[in-house]
Amino acid sequence: MNLSTPDSPSLQIDFEPVGRRAEVQPGVTLLEAAQQAGVGLVSLCGGEGWCGSCRVRIASGDVSPPTSAEHSVFSGAELVEDYRLACQAIPLGDVKIDIPSESLSTPQRLQIEGHEIPVKFDPLVQPVDLQLTPPTLHDLRSDTVRIRDALAEQGYDAVRFGLPLLGDLAGRLRTLDWSTRLALRDGEVIAALPAGGRLLGLAVDIGTTKLAAYLVDLTTGATLAMTGAMNPQIAYGEDVVSRIAYTREHLDGRRVLQARLVETLNEMVGELCTQAAAKRDSLVEAVVVGNTAMHHLFAGLPVEQLGLSPYVPAVSEAFALRAGEIELVLAPGAYVYLLPNIAGYVGADHVAMVLATDIWQSDRTVIAVDIGTNTEITLATNGRLLSCSCASGPAFEGAHIRHGMRAAAGAIERVQITGDEVHLFTIDNRPPVGICGSGILDVVAEMRSIGALNERGALQADHPRVRPGQPLAEFLLVPASATGHGRDITMNRKDINEIQLAKGAIRTGIEILLATAGIPAGQVESFVIAGAFGTYIHVGSAVQIGMFPNLPIQRFHQVGNAAGIGAKQVLISAERRQAAIEIVERIEYIELTTHPDFQELFLQALYL
Ligand code: FES
Repeated sequence: MNLSTPDSPSLQIDFEPVGRRAEVQPGVTLLEAAQQAGVGLVSLCGGEGWCGSCRVRIASGDVSPPTSAEHSVFSGAELVEDYRLACQAIPLGDVKIDIPSESLSTPQRLQIEGHEIPVKFDPLVQPVDLQLTPPTLHDLRSDTVRIRDALAEQGYDAVRFGLPLLGDLAGRLRTLDWSTRLALRDGEVIAALPAGGRLLGLAVDIGTTKLAAYLVDLTTGATLAMTGAMNPQIAYGEDVVSRIAYTREHLDGRRVLQARLVETLNEMVGELCTQAAAKRDSLVEAVVVGNTAMHHLFAGLPVEQLGLSPYVPAVSEAFALRAGEIELVLAPGAYVYLLPNIAGYVGADHVAMVLATDIWQSDRTVIAVDIGTNTEITLATNGRLLSCSCASGPAFEGAHIRHGMRAAAGAIERVQITGDEVHLFTIDNRPPVGICGSGILDVVAEMRSIGALNERGALQADHPRVRPGQPLAEFLLVPASATGHGRDITMNRKDINEIQLAKGAIRTGIEILLATAGIPAGQVESFVIAGAFGTYIHVGSAVQIGMFPNLPIQRFHQVGNAAGIGAKQVLISAERRQAAIEIVERIEYIELTTHPDFQELFLQALYL
C-alpha cells in the first residue's frame, strides 16, 4: 500500500535503543522504514506477517490498527501493551519505536575461526620486483612496453594489462620513482605496489546470516586479520527463499541486495586493513564462497530460478570477475574468484568445507555437515563423495519458535534440568530473553529425558512443569520473574514440532546418503560438524534427540567455519584451487525430495 501523494509530508520514525531516525512517506510499513534507516530488524519471513520475528513496541505515536496476522501472533495483553509486527504496522504520524533485543539483527555472535590444516603454498598471484629506468627524450617507450621489457629480462613473456590497472599505472610508477613490486596473475599485471610491499588477499564466506572475512598475506600465507559481520540482506528476509522472493517482487531487488552486501564487505575490508595496518590497494585477489543463492546475489546473477523446481543454479563452474565490476574496493586490477557450486542448494561454501576438512581425500568413512537454514551433508566413503541438501529451515536460528531468537546477548544457549532445577547459560550472562539454536536442542533433549515429552513430541500433561497454555499446553522453562523482558519463556507442542521437522530433515539426509553408499551408520569413523551453529551445539543433545546417529562421542568433531578456511586455502594455493574443481566433478549429488525412501525415512526421523 502506498498512500503518498507528491506533496505528502514525510513522517519521522525514531528507532530506540539504536538511536536511528527515518524520514518516510506515508504508507510504508515500520519494517520498510527500518530498512531505509539501516536498522537491522529481524524479518525472517521477509515481511509476510507469519514469523513474528519483527516484533516491536510502539513507544509513542499512532499506527494503523492490528492486522489479522498480528492478532494471531500476539496475546490480547501484548496488543494492549502496544506490541506490533513492524512488517504490518503503518505509521499514521511521527512514531517512536522500541526494538526488543531479540528483534535486532545485530549484534549477534559470529563464528569466524576454524580448524586449519597445512596446504601447499603456491598462490596464483605472484610478486615480481622491478627497478625500471625512467623514460627520457632518448627512451620514449610507453610505460607498458617498459614493464614488458623488464619482465622479459626476468623470463616473463607476453604479459597482459587490463584497463582498471592502466587507469592507475602511469601515476603510480612515477609516485614510486620507477621502483615497484608488480602483482602478476596468470600472465596479467594486476597491481603495481611499492617495492617490497605486501601482496594481500581477501577470503570471504558469505553466509545467509553471517559474513566472515580474512586478510591473508599472499607472500607468506599468514592470516593477518579476521572479522565477522551480519549479512545486511537479513533486513530483506532471513532465509534464502525470502530473499529470492524479494528479488521477484522488486524490480531492482537483485541490485539492492547486491549493493547492501558489497557495502558491508567494503566496510569489513576497511576494518581488516585497520587491524593489519594495511592499505586497500595492496589487496590483489579475493576468493569468495557462499551458498548458491548468496554466491549469485554477490555476483549480481539471477536467483529467481533457484526458487522454482528443479532449482538449478545460473552458474555452477568457478569463475573470476573484476572487483571493480561489483564495486568491491580493492586494488584497481584485483580479481574476485568464486568457487564452483554443486547444485541449487549445495553451493561453493560446501565445496570449500569439503576442501578444508580434507574429507575428499580421506580413506576413512566420514560424514561432514554444515547446519543452517539449509543443511548440506557430504559422506566420504570408499573413494566416493555423496552430497545432499536438506531443508532444515530456520528453527535453529530461533525462527518459528515462539520464544526462539538468534545467538545474541540474552539468548539461552545451554540448558540442563536436574530434578526441579533448571540451569541456564545465556550469551553474555544477560538475563534470558529467548532461546537460540543450541539452547533449543538442549531443551528438547532435557524435556525428553525428564519425561515432559514423549517420543512423538507430545507434552506430558502430568509433568509438573507442563501447564495449560493459550492455545497449546506449554513447558515452562523460565518464569517471567527471571527473564530479561518480564515474560515467561516456554516451549509448546508447535515449537517441538518445528524442531522435529528440522532435525528430521537432517537425519533423513544422513540416512539416505548412508543407504546410497550401502553402509550402516556405525561404520562412520568421523563425523565433522562445521559452521557457526554447529560450533556451539551440545553434540550429546543432538544425538539424544536423534538428529545425529548414535556414535561414540569422540567420533564427532566441531571444526568451526570450515567454509571460510577453505576460501583461505584457495587464496594461497593454486593446487587447492584445482582440488575444489575436482571435488565438484567427483561429488555425486543426491536429490532427496525425489528419493523413493524419503517419506518413510523422514517419518521415522521425526521421533525424538
Ligand atoms: S512477521 Fe514481520 S517479518 Fe515476519
